[in-house]
Amino acid sequence: MTRAQMPDPSGPNVRFKQLGQPLRRTDAPGKVSGKTMYAGDFAMPGMLHAKVVRANLASARLRRLDVSKARALEGVACVLTAADMPDRLAATDIPGQTGQKRLKTDSQILVRERVRYFGEPIALIAAISRDIAERAAALVEFDLEPLPGVYDPEEALKPGAPLVQGTDNCVAEHKIRKGNVEEGFARADFIVENTFRTPFQEHAFLEPEVGLAWVDENEVVNIRVSTQVIEHFRSIAEAIGVPHNKVRILGALVGGGFGGKEDLTVEVYLALLARHTGRPVRLEYSREDSFVGHGKRHPFKLTYRTGVTKDGKITALDVRAIADAGAYVYLSPYVLLYCAVAAPGPYRVDNLNVHMRAAATNNMFTSAFRGFGGMQACAAYEQQMDEIAKRIGMDRLELRRRNLLETGEPISTGFVPPSAIWTDRCLEQAWAALGEPTPSHGSLRTGRGVAVYQQSYGRLTFLHDSSEAWVGVEVDGTVVVRSGVTDIGAGQASALGQIVAEVLGVSLDNVVIYNSDSAVTPLAGTTTATRGLYMTGNAAKRAAEAVRARLVARAAQAFGAGVAEVELAFDKAFRVDAPERSMSFVDLVKLCASEGIHRSELAMFRAPFTDFLDPETGQGQAHPDYTFGAHAVEVSVDIETGEVRVLKSVGAHDVGQCVNRAAVEGQIEGGAQNGQGYALSEEMLYREGRLVTPSFSEYLTPTSMDMPKVQCILLESRSGIGPFGAKGIGEPALTAVAPAIANAVADAIGVRVFEMPITPERVVRALQGR
Ligand code: MOS
Repeated sequence: MTRAQMPDPSGPNVRFKQLGQPLRRTDAPGKVSGKTMYAGDFAMPGMLHAKVVRANLASARLRRLDVSKARALEGVACVLTAADMPDRLAATDIPGQTGQKRLKTDSQILVRERVRYFGEPIALIAAISRDIAERAAALVEFDLEPLPGVYDPEEALKPGAPLVQGTDNCVAEHKIRKGNVEEGFARADFIVENTFRTPFQEHAFLEPEVGLAWVDENEVVNIRVSTQVIEHFRSIAEAIGVPHNKVRILGALVGGGFGGKEDLTVEVYLALLARHTGRPVRLEYSREDSFVGHGKRHPFKLTYRTGVTKDGKITALDVRAIADAGAYVYLSPYVLLYCAVAAPGPYRVDNLNVHMRAAATNNMFTSAFRGFGGMQACAAYEQQMDEIAKRIGMDRLELRRRNLLETGEPISTGFVPPSAIWTDRCLEQAWAALGEPTPSHGSLRTGRGVAVYQQSYGRLTFLHDSSEAWVGVEVDGTVVVRSGVTDIGAGQASALGQIVAEVLGVSLDNVVIYNSDSAVTPLAGTTTATRGLYMTGNAAKRAAEAVRARLVARAAQAFGAGVAEVELAFDKAFRVDAPERSMSFVDLVKLCASEGIHRSELAMFRAPFTDFLDPETGQGQAHPDYTFGAHAVEVSVDIETGEVRVLKSVGAHDVGQCVNRAAVEGQIEGGAQNGQGYALSEEMLYREGRLVTPSFSEYLTPTSMDMPKVQCILLESRSGIGPFGAKGIGEPALTAVAPAIANAVADAIGVRVFEMPITPERVVRALQGR
């Protein structure tokens, strides 16, 4: 789309009835009053309690496994090992509803012979109480023979490295090539090269993995579980060897996902135990189980070599990166692809060479985490921009201004995003909002940093994504929305209600949303990839528009007007040119019902779809669209202790169109917190694959005491491809936070810490090395 075709954000005058307001979310009253039932709050008569027995080495062979003592313990209903089941795998990818290609990302359900990571499940126990299940777990005897392991992704890629599985530790590779990098470097006045390291990260959701499974009278395995993806019912069915229609996933409001509940967690274990015992089974991970039991954010080592002219124009960029995929593939190829696509950031780089690999190691497997590779890229490209500015003696914002992509320009893959690129205004506004500088005093040095970003919303277009929603009007004028969307705390369900309320001109209080039941609600796909509002919002809008059209046609007939002259708003139908000609929404619905007029609609929204990117050049379309924005911070660094405090934190994002302002601000505040922990304090230490920081007393997430008030600046280009011109904000809110903090620390102390998290120890070491 060229600039001339872009929607004009200043007009036509868009008047929304309630869209964009900070309305009370439909899920809020239950949460604040404690009435919300999370997956862990459900119980059933005769329910058993499950426990997972885990390996205590990261690379080993299972020599002996004896569960006889555990089985003999009174109160134990079932102990399962790999020997008790066929040799099936659990697929960890996310099948779409249409002809999605599948990556080979399977992993073993229980250790049969080879242990590949510390904490890998060896046996499953179900007992009449949690206490007995724990005691039975202690009675499981096993001998592990240590095998050579590999714990460093670079080592893993060297010839002769111990193989984690298969014949090659390189589990994914991605390249992007554009223009002529050699020529670009030849034209440069400066060449700046730096290596940045990003760490593992734990999702640290408040609600650990939990679920309850039972087999019903139709032999359907029902699982009520905390998940982002109810459509894992297919993978679960395949893992336990039943048809797809014999597994039903019921979601619940989720106490945090962040990508950590994007893969399977407890589902297959629950399904197996419920089928073996014929009784309901509940499994809740302890915090330590959660730390060792689900995939982490991929650590990356990224080397950026940039050619730049004296007047600050980037002439060439060469990026090499290695990611630690851990012991199983999971979503590593997708994460790597996101990182590669995002590698140059929202900048004009005509001569580009990107080469990224993900290596299998015997560390914890790594998979989806909010930001999904885009965040690691941003950590590198935005620190690199500050380093370039310093090297060529140019203002950091000015260097960015000279290279930022403008609306209508292609990104790294040659694809032109269909929406506005407003990174420049976000940058200016975020920076300006920092206000008057806080003076340095004593050992406290103040510094400022900013980072801009480009982050996709919507899944990879070669996955052929789709989403469905159903909207119907009851005879009493109340509205029902049914959609399989999982609400992971961001108000995904409430947003659908608000969109439908907007279209039908009713108040949100009049709408009830039934969501996340794979057997009953139309399938809406995953709540991942910043796709909920974009995909399911569009589906719900379409469904509501179809219902609206039938209601409006009947009202037009009653008013003796054309359909274009009838509006639905304020729980009424009326003639726009003669508002006194009106009837209440309820009366209109009753009239339609009495005449048998269809009052519901099931709609599907399909994302644009493409072939996979060119494997050699990486050119093509990867995502439906991108969100652009900036985050700015002010920090103070104590040069004696190395401690960093974030004093001010500002996110400025073009969200296209706010649907619920309060929900958008919630995403930005949460992103600021998540990114601050990643940048400064959250450290997962592994020794030979063994996690030595498996609790919140060692793994330090920022608390409200560590957080400044987060300022949220919302720009609305109304150019997005979500409903009403919305873009996605779930992941984008986080992407630029960590590099902004890293840049502020470097600004404060005059030296950069090239490895996150920027702990006091690393700050002090950097100061000593200066
Ligand atoms: Mo995700 S990282 O929930 O796509």
